[in-house]
Amino acid sequence: MTKVVLISGSLRAASVNSAALRAARRIIGRTRPAASVVSLPIGRLPFYNGDMEGTGATPAVAAARALVAGADALMISTPCYNGAVPGVLKNALDWLSRPDGASPLTGRVAAVLSASPGGRGGIDAQPALFDLLDSCEAITVEHPPVAIRWAHQRLDAAGEMTEGEAVRALRELVDATFEAVAIMEEQRRSVREQERELHARVREESAPVGEASRQPVREEAGRPVADGAGPVRAPRGPVRAAHGTVPPAAPQRAADAPSRASVTSSRS
Ligand SMILES: Cc1cc2nc3c(=O)[nH]c(=O)nc-3n(C[C@H](O)[C@H](O)[C@H](O)COP(=O)(O)O)c2cc1C
Repeated sequence: MTKVVLISGSLRAASVNSAALRAARRIIGRTRPAASVVSLPIGRLPFYNGDMEGTGATPAVAAARALVAGADALMISTPCYNGAVPGVLKNALDWLSRPDGASPLTGRVAAVLSASPGGRGGIDAQPALFDLLDSCEAITVEHPPVAIRWAHQRLDAAGEMTEGEAVRALRELVDATFEAVAIMEEQRRSVREQERELHARVREESAPVGEASRQPVREEAGRPVADGAGPVRAPRGPVRAAHGTVPPAAPQRAADAPSRASVTSSRS
């Protein structure tokens, strides 16, 4: 079962970013009924304080870390505050980036979107969010930016984001996110398979049979590596979900990608 964790960068009850994520949750519920979707309430996290690390005095942080560690994908919707992500979201990501070397964000698939009542849809906050996720070694989903402008006009009387164009953009992002999860699962399965094969070769070649038939096996970082082959590693960096490939390309920035008419805006 695919597990998705939703993170809204706004604490406002009437937040358009939270509304966008609720719409994404409904889309997932309709299109992938077996998936589980949980929201991470970042407002419960204390301000980051290094003195609190490792003391066990932060149950909200421990719960947040466990939630993210158990997720197949994150969907993060951010408002734009003065051209960047709100402090409350940065604070949450700072907590999640710890402990050093064991961050639950590392290797986690993460999709980014933004929403705002303004004409830019909060897109100016997206590059900073991508940078944060990259520095935590999350696997960001490559997709044309979803920056929902005039978002308050896309809410129904109940405050839900039901307007067609916004829902279509969110559905495409949900599809790209699940595709990225599938690609990562396949990559990890393939890495595990290669490791099993290498270990089997090492066992076979260390058996006391015909010395002449032995192939040289070297080790890198304690792992057996077939001679002539590189070490087996899970991929890092962005995943382009659209065509089922994992390119070596540099992370796509929201501002670099083509914009979606009306729902999204670009920097131009
Ligand atoms: C401190 C602050 C700074 C803001 N800076 C920007 C900004 O730089 N660009 C922008 O488009 N909107 C800006 N806004 C407006 C937010 O986009 C707007 O409040 C938005 O609705 C917040 O998202 P929410 O509805 O999810 O809470 C700012 C709002 C606040 C409170």
